[in-house]
Formats: sequence, C-alpha cells, structure tokens
Amino acid sequence: MFSKSLLLSFCTTALLVCVTEASGGPAEIDLNEHQWMAPGPNDFRGPCPGLNTLANHGFLPRDGKNLSMSVILDAALNGYHMQPASPLVGAVKISTLAADDPFSFTLEDIRLHGNIEHDASLSREDFALGNNFRFNETIFSTLANSNPGSDFYNTNSAGEVQRLRLADSEAKNPSINNTQKEFGIRCTESGFYLSVMGDPLVGVAPKEFVQIFFREERLPIAEGWHRSEIPINDTTLLPLIARIATASNWTSSGGCSVLEPVVDPSNGSQ
Ligand code: HEM
Ligand SMILES: *[C@@H]1O[C@H](CO)[C@@H](O)[C@H](O)[C@H]1NC(C)=O
Ligand SMILES: *[C@@H]1O[C@H](CO)[C@@H](O)[C@H](O)[C@H]1NC(C)=O
Ligand SMILES: *[C@@H]1O[C@H](CO)[C@@H](O)[C@H](O)[C@H]1NC(C)=O
Ligand SMILES: *[C@@H]1O[C@H](CO)[C@@H](O)[C@H](O)[C@H]1NC(C)=O
Ligand SMILES: *[C@@H]1O[C@H](CO)[C@@H](O)[C@H](O)[C@H]1NC(C)=O
Repeated sequence: MFSKSLLLSFCTTALLVCVTEASGGPAEIDLNEHQWMAPGPNDFRGPCPGLNTLANHGFLPRDGKNLSMSVILDAALNGYHMQPASPLVGAVKISTLAADDPFSFTLEDIRLHGNIEHDASLSREDFALGNNFRFNETIFSTLANSNPGSDFYNTNSAGEVQRLRLADSEAKNPSINNTQKEFGIRCTESGFYLSVMGDPLVGVAPKEFVQIFFREERLPIAEGWHRSEIPINDTTLLPLIARIATASNWTSSGGCSVLEPVVDPSNGSQ
C-alpha cells in the first residue's frame, strides 16, 4: 500500500480520488500529508491510542476536535483498513453521549469515565486511582512484558494481560466498575490492537509494532508495518474478541453498567 503510493505520487489528485471511489477501499496514502507529528499544546488527545495515532498522522483532524461518524469511519478505513465494523460504529455512537455538542465530539470528551472509558485499562490508570487518559509505562509494562520468549502478541497473551490488569485493579481500586459492559469493551480494544498492528485473521501482532503504537502513538511504517491487506471487519474481529474473552478467564467484580455491551464477546462465532 505505502510503496504503491510512492509510485503513484506523480498522478493527479483527481485520479487518486477516482481510484478510491471505484475500489471502495482505503485511499492511497500520501505519506507527506500523513507524517507523524507530535500534538501541539492546543491539540486534544485522549485515552484511545487508536484514535490518537490517527490524529498524530493527520487521518483525523490533528487538533483532535470536530469528530463525527463519517470523519472517524474514513480515518479508520484509510489509516488501518478497518471497515465500519459493529464495535467501531458502536464506539462512535456512544462517544456522542460524552460531548455537549450534538454534532461532534473531541478526543478529550471521550475520557468521560463510565461512558467508554473503564477501569483495568492496558496503558492508563483507573479513574479513581490516577490519570485515566494519559499513557502510563508502569501500567503498560504488563502488556509489554507478556508472551515472554516470543516476538509476537496473540489472543492468548492478550487475554492473560487482561486477567492480570483486572487483578491489579481489583486489588487497588475499591470503586472498580467491572461489569459485562466494561469486559466487552476491553476485549474489543485488545482485538483492535492485535488487528491494526498485526494479522487480523489470526490475531498475531509483532511486539515492536504494538509497543510503538501504544508508547509513541505512531504507525511503525519506518519499522516495516503496513496497513492490513485484508479489511478489518466483523468477520475478522468478532472471532478474535471471543478468543481473547475466553483466554482472559473473566468474572464480574461488580459496579453499575449504564449501557449495554458494545459487543457480546461470547457471540464471536455468529
Ligand atoms: C479506529 C480504531 C481503534 C483502535 C485501533 C482503538 C484501539 C484502542 C485500544 C487498544 C484501547 C485500549 C487502551 C488501554 O486499555 O490502555 C482503546 C481505548 C479506548 N478507545 Fe479506542 N480504538 C479505536 C477506535 C475507537 C473509537 C472509534 C472510539 C470512540 C469514538 C474509541 C474510544 C476509546 C476510548 C474512550 C478508550 C479508553 C478506554 C479505557 O482504557 O478506559 N476508540 N482503543
Ligand atoms: C467540522 O467538520 C465538518 C465536516 O465533518 C465540517 O463541515 C465543519 O466545517 C467542521 N467545523 C469546524 C469548526 O472545523
Ligand atoms: C503510573 O501508574 C503508576 C501505577 O498506578 C503510578 O504509581 C504512577 O504514578 C503513574 N505515573 C504517572 C506519570 O502518572
Ligand atoms: C469482511 O471482508 C471480507 C473480505 O473483503 C468479506 O469477505 C466479508 O464479507 C466482510 N465481512 C463483513 C461483515 O463485511
Ligand atoms: C480462572 O477462574 C477460575 C474461577 O474464578 C479460577 O478458579 C481459576 O484459578 C482461574 N484461572 C487463572 C489462570 O487465573
Ligand atoms: C464506578 O466508578 C466510579 C469512579 O471510580 C465510582 O465513583 C463508582 O462508585 C463506581 N460505580 C459503582 C457502581 O461501583
């Protein structure tokens, strides 16, 4: 994908638009327009490494503002080759609840605890214990050090990381919210990082790519990553999410679930 865009760099914009519309797939990437840039002091970022990365590469507005369904679906398709899968669409719908503006939300709005944002995250502290939206290396070390002896993370290691992160939160956070809703979201997020950084069919992702994605909120293009050739959609995602759910050995520790689960992780085979 990325090398093809270099070959096409002499073509006109109009031609590229035609190619895009005809195929229905992601647009060719103009690497110059999608360089990684650190956010500036007035740019919003939030608890989602997936959306922060899209903003850092200009697939989403670099200021992290004025986000909507069409803006996010375009960015996910172009940045990750992720189609409008039900967990993706569901997350955008729920995010509108976190904003005052009825037409858009920001990357800052989505930090609202209990909306999508939940306890026992992979790389952020619990709301009741610290900063629930900024990357934290201590929290992330559980994932970073998982699957020892291998260069890859997979659905088993992702489930094991979720189990360990939940046990840590249960031990430290008396006001933990850990219902079916949070569980469904957490399994989906694990399925997301394995899919966008790795092979979405088997759910295997190089450790180096996943670590750059979380720590730098950068697409590891220079390290050899490229967008998945096959689309990431419900057909690929739901079975991965179900396998992660099983591997995480989850039980509820209570709390109040305001919304129904985005996906039911036990229904992955449907
Ligand atoms: C485009 C593809 C996406 C990818 C690859 C992605 C990836 C992830 C990952 C890996 C996490 C877990 C972070 C952690 O536990 O430390 C996460 C968290 C989160 N995502 Fe996304 N995400 C995507 C789309 C979205 C969308 C569309 C929304 C809402 C509009 C969203 C909102 C959130 C929020 C609020 C969190 C914080 C949950 C928490 O840890 O408390 N994400 N995302
Ligand atoms: C917000 O985005 C919409 C398109 O999604 C655009 O029409 C509008 O001008 C934008 N508003 C601002 C303030 O940037
Ligand atoms: C990261 O999380 C750990 C564990 O909760 C905490 O002790 C530490 O203060 C956090 N670091 C930052 C920079 O917030
Ligand atoms: C996912 O993409 C594959 C390959 O294009 C396609 O065969 C499948 O029908 C898609 N699944 C959904 C739910 O759109
Ligand atoms: C899985 O959960 C069961 C029931 O809560 C528990 O007995 C078992 O020890 C757990 N396994 C692991 C590996 O934590
Ligand atoms: C959910 O978490 C918040 C913040 O930690 C806490 O105030 C609230 O009591 C929790 N809800 C339940 C039902 O435990």
